[in-house]
Amino acid sequence: MTMPAATLRAALTTAVAVSILAASAAGHDAEAQSPLEAIESTEKGELKNPHSGDAGAAEEGHKLYMAAGCNGCHGGTGGGGMGPPLSNQVWVYGDDDDTLFRLITLGSDDLQAAGYRRIGTEAVVGPMPHAKDIVKSADDMWKIVTWIKSLHEN
Ligand code: HEC
Repeated sequence: MTMPAATLRAALTTAVAVSILAASAAGHDAEAQSPLEAIESTEKGELKNPHSGDAGAAEEGHKLYMAAGCNGCHGGTGGGGMGPPLSNQVWVYGDDDDTLFRLITLGSDDLQAAGYRRIGTEAVVGPMPHAKDIVKSADDMWKIVTWIKSLHEN
């Protein structure tokens, strides 16, 4: 006995619709999680950069860095200005991905309120504003971190 064509078509349509919904829900979660949500849902020290070492992501990260206005304080190539250089070997709170992600998202005051201390001293010492309202997704934030790390690859 064969399945009537109409029943088969209905079953297929439902299956396709369900898989499209599932795919867009998954994509939504991965891409639209905000930097703050990523921080709030992850233990200190456990944030992992999905783009680590990816040159293409670093290039996108540089565009996002410019678009977010980070260059106003850190310079277009990260050499510093009103803010400390990102391209030198001194790191105020540390150079691991987790710390950089939290610093940029929260800004230095909230980072310190979360228990972080200055461990390195740059020539410029001052508060860094938070970027949680400027950089919309955790994914974009990771690309910015990837670009900053790429300044240190050579
Ligand atoms: C108004 C100026 C200003 C803006 C805009 C700004 N920063 Fe900063 N940034 C600072 C200052 C000042 C510090 C040092 C903070 C401290 O000493 O606690 C800093 C520190 C940093 C550090 C750590 C540097 C080190 O040597 O350890 C990183 C990374 C960084 N900023 C990235 C960014 C990114 C990415 C953006 C854009 C989303 C940004 N900053 C926007 C002023 C700024």
